[in-house]
Amino acid sequence: MDKAERYRDLKAEIDSVVAGETSVTARYATAACILAQAMAPRFFWTGFYVVDPLKPRELVVGPYQGTLGCLRIAFGKGVCGHVAASGEPILVPDVHAFPGHIACDSASNSEVVVPVFDSDGELVAVLDVDSTDLDAFDATDLAGLVAICNSLLVA
Ligand code: SME
Repeated sequence: MDKAERYRDLKAEIDSVVAGETSVTARYATAACILAQAMAPRFFWTGFYVVDPLKPRELVVGPYQGTLGCLRIAFGKGVCGHVAASGEPILVPDVHAFPGHIACDSASNSEVVVPVFDSDGELVAVLDVDSTDLDAFDATDLAGLVAICNSLLVA
């Protein structure tokens, strides 16, 4: 099975497990778990930073799988904060070359970050996937994760 098919299967699995679930936390936790298990060990850290309703220009860590993550990231800071500010997904082949990268774990070398929007089109979270390898992610990973994030809160 090629990688694009793998992502289609994972999206179907996530959509099916979360169908009817009203807890957003349960949805994020399910997606993080299914992705991390299916893509281990390439996915070294897999999880969500959610927009803090009390501090709307700040992300706070949500459900994740992996080593200890930073608790808070301001919009505009690091890769996650950049995606929160821009609303656009990003592939970062070498995190050490990204201005202002936040090293929660120095073992991370590349990452992909995708925004999550609610049904009103408001940014509510970002999905952050890190790898210990340089250049671990490509356009197929990005597209697969975007598709999963696009249906995560509505399926
Ligand atoms: N790499 C992220 C920080 C979060 S962690 O790596 C878990 C960033 O620069 O936004």
